[in-house]
Amino acid sequence: MSPSITTFSFALLASLASALVLVVQAQPGFISINCGASNEYTDENTSITYKTDDGFIGSGRNVNVSTGDQNNLQILNDARIFPDGTRNCYTLRPDQGKNRTYLIRASFGYGKYDGKDQDEDRYFDLHIDVNYWSEVQYPNDLQMYVLKEIMYVSKADDIQVCLVNTGNGVPFISALELRPLDDDIYLSGSGLLRLWERLNLGRSSEAYPYPYPIRYPYPIRHPDDVYDRMWMPDIIFDWAILNTTSAIDLSKNNNAYKVPGEVLRTAEGTTESSSPLYIDWSEKLLEWAPREKGIVYLHFMEIERLSGPQRELTISMNDNQFTETVSLEYLKPVAVVSTPVSEQFSFSIYSKKNSGNPPILNAAEIFIVGDLPNLPTAQDDVKAINDIKATYHIKSESWQGDPCIPSKFKWDGLNCSDGNPPRIISLKLSSRNLVGNIVSSLSHLSKMEYLDLSNNQLKGAIPETLAELPNLSFLLIGNVDLCLADPCLHKKKKNSIHVSVVTLVSGFFVVLFGALAIIWLIKRKQIAESRERMLRLKNRPFEYGEVSKITGNFGRVIGEGGFGKVYHGTLDDGTVVAVKMLSESSKQGYKEFQAEAQLLVIVHHRNLVSLFGYCDDSKHMALIYEYMANGNLRQHLSDNHPKVLTWKKRLQIAVDAAQGLDYLHNGCNLPIIHRDLKTSNILLKEDFQAKIADFGLSRAFATENDSRVSTRLAGTIGYLGPEFQCSGNCDKKSDVYSFGIVLFELITGQPAVMRSQDGTDFMHILEWLIPIVEGGDIQRIMDPRLQGEFNINSAWKVVEIATICTQPRAIERPDINHVLAKLKESLVSNSSDLFGDPL
Ligand SMILES: *[C@@H]1O[C@H](CO)[C@@H](O)[C@H](O)[C@H]1NC(C)=O
Ligand SMILES: *[C@@H]1O[C@H](CO)[C@@H](O)[C@H](O)[C@H]1NC(C)=O
Ligand SMILES: *[C@@H]1O[C@H](CO)[C@@H](O)[C@H](O)[C@H]1NC(C)=O
Ligand SMILES: *[C@@H]1O[C@H](CO)[C@@H](O)[C@H](O)[C@H]1NC(C)=O
Ligand SMILES: *[C@@H]1O[C@H](CO)[C@@H](O)[C@H](O)[C@H]1NC(C)=O
Ligand SMILES: *[C@@H]1O[C@H](CO)[C@@H](O)[C@H](O)[C@H]1NC(C)=O
Repeated sequence: MSPSITTFSFALLASLASALVLVVQAQPGFISINCGASNEYTDENTSITYKTDDGFIGSGRNVNVSTGDQNNLQILNDARIFPDGTRNCYTLRPDQGKNRTYLIRASFGYGKYDGKDQDEDRYFDLHIDVNYWSEVQYPNDLQMYVLKEIMYVSKADDIQVCLVNTGNGVPFISALELRPLDDDIYLSGSGLLRLWERLNLGRSSEAYPYPYPIRYPYPIRHPDDVYDRMWMPDIIFDWAILNTTSAIDLSKNNNAYKVPGEVLRTAEGTTESSSPLYIDWSEKLLEWAPREKGIVYLHFMEIERLSGPQRELTISMNDNQFTETVSLEYLKPVAVVSTPVSEQFSFSIYSKKNSGNPPILNAAEIFIVGDLPNLPTAQDDVKAINDIKATYHIKSESWQGDPCIPSKFKWDGLNCSDGNPPRIISLKLSSRNLVGNIVSSLSHLSKMEYLDLSNNQLKGAIPETLAELPNLSFLLIGNVDLCLADPCLHKKKKNSIHVSVVTLVSGFFVVLFGALAIIWLIKRKQIAESRERMLRLKNRPFEYGEVSKITGNFGRVIGEGGFGKVYHGTLDDGTVVAVKMLSESSKQGYKEFQAEAQLLVIVHHRNLVSLFGYCDDSKHMALIYEYMANGNLRQHLSDNHPKVLTWKKRLQIAVDAAQGLDYLHNGCNLPIIHRDLKTSNILLKEDFQAKIADFGLSRAFATENDSRVSTRLAGTIGYLGPEFQCSGNCDKKSDVYSFGIVLFELITGQPAVMRSQDGTDFMHILEWLIPIVEGGDIQRIMDPRLQGEFNINSAWKVVEIATICTQPRAIERPDINHVLAKLKESLVSNSSDLFGDPL
């Protein structure tokens, strides 16, 4: 017996006309979109109302299409095409919500709308939510349109149907339909079934003039079928046709599958009771879906009034991979559902010998079992980001479908965790013309670690709930007119220091009462801790009495700088701190204090020393920093320090410091220039993690720069690039120069300005080492305290990096992020070189 799948023939169904007189039924839960249409319309044959794309998709454009067929469906007269963007998604929001089974059907009528040769091999992908659904081939010359249908259980309230441009043709679509299924009839609980064929057997039809399986548009469907499945008329040619002409009331048939009576009214069978109905779809099906599993739904109903024994049928698939026996009763529908079978797809229906009646089959549905490997992003995150998108009217090609999955279509400006489910962990919405208040949905992105809203026109209060996000370690909000919490006091208050947590950093310009920008970076901390600190900083600075208490009445001096003395202290919660008191005689003065307080309070990075708070009354000014147990790097490099820093530790310190500087230069929307980077400004924690300290100077000079005061005295001799000394023009490249000097100090152990060989004079470290390095002998410059315990390759690398950082011409020095990348390489090469010296 030949597989008769190739003998499709279709015709108008006279009997369907009777359906037309049915009262127009409500279509509960149907979503029907005539893609590309300019008006809503109701199809007279199906009584289904088709809407336009409005509200379902924001991208693509409409085109008119001609399928060249007078009788075609109106839904095929237009299409929506997607020349832009890689993934364009329709969002369907069925009333029934998630965890329900839906039939979803997409139709693609091409009609040469673009005038191109239809035989060109063009195709695109279709996705359902975060998973692959099917490839869509452009209909060929012989096809009016292509249909894709699935049974699908949605995991979320919204269902996204996405057209994905794979570079092989512009995606287009003619219609999109969703039908809720009342019972757990096709899928129970989970998964995806892709329809291959839904056949109404025994329905005779005039031969359709085309030789191939063409989807003729007049199958039996709604309103005969309450689920609007499309039952395609089909005759398997060498089988016998059965139909009942009796005026039985088929509308009463109440099988679980609700197969329309009009479909069950006809069947096909063999002529002999001893010959089975046999069909083999393996070849076709495996070509369509190799390596996948098929599942078949066979629908039976006895339509002959049999006087003798009733029909009893045994169904066997793939040589007994699946078998089942059913007994038929007059006009009682019964369905047999196979288990998923693989590798081949054939089945036989035998009639029990003694019944004397041949086997029959009324209708069949064949599906491929699809899998749903990708999980969508956590629904709370999806909801929050969609709120944000809607509130700020963000129009971005990629902002469609799931925000994170599949990862190659993730929305621009955000990053996600790989978790299960994936979460949104960073969001960068800078320079997107966002206007209005900071939307509270941002705080619903509960795993967020990084948020950048800079360079927009946001105003109003920063919701405190943002500060409560446990994982938020970076928050950058640079906008006019923002403040930390209601009411916006900072504009009214006279004393800027009191509101400095919300203060305003614009890199070079300090505008004390008019906000230009806010850089507010929250250190990763426990919720309570960060909240407490936020509140403390927000409400008021420390009082002098408190500072005195924290420091145990200024009992333990741990350092002394240009500012004044630095004391050891302990906060109420046990955190050890360093308290810098600004001496009244300080040469640097109030402006610098103010600048440092304002900047440091709001800048947080693991390689920058954090400011916990400050005190500012008329007599006393104090800065309360995190305590750095191991002091500064200069002390550790000096000859008289009892412990020697190993080469590996030095590399790590270099990387840490580069990270801190990179953050200052590139991590904020306006670069912060340090201007006084040196080994004594690099502090070490007890585990030797390095952090950069003392930004006050850079702020002070920002102001002076502004008022055109010379900056010649800025920084520290030995660390200033030549251009700085000449012109006072100070930028990132000057910091890179200073960083190069720091690297040379790490390599040599020598200070930037060192004693000459004979000890009589001072010389610059570069003066000493450049000739030696150029001579190719770096052993001679290496810190003797390392006692040769370093990896020579890694040492060379660092020397090279330090050399380019200290190029006389600023333009020849690299950006710090480049330096950082190179240093990281040298760190890796140092530890991975098994044959070199491990230290
Ligand atoms: C398609 O044709 C209709 C009727 O002629 C017209 O109203 C509509 O604007 C056309 N649409 C496009 C996208 O050209
Ligand atoms: C309705 O069906 C009839 C045939 O049954 C067909 O001629 C007609 O074009 C169809 N109308 C629409 C709007 O599809
Ligand atoms: C989804 O529905 C099925 C039954 O239809 C139920 O067993 C299952 O618990 C539901 N799952 C969720 C997540 O609600
Ligand atoms: C049913 O069978 C009769 C005669 O056997 C035939 O005239 C009629 O067209 C058939 N009906 C259908 C819907 O095929
Ligand atoms: C996302 O990750 C990439 C690669 O790590 C990074 O370049 C990009 O800046 C990140 N974007 C955001 C918004 O964090
Ligand atoms: C995020 O915060 C939770 C505590 O709420 C913590 O367990 C988790 O490790 C944090 N994740 C990251 C990446 O910091």
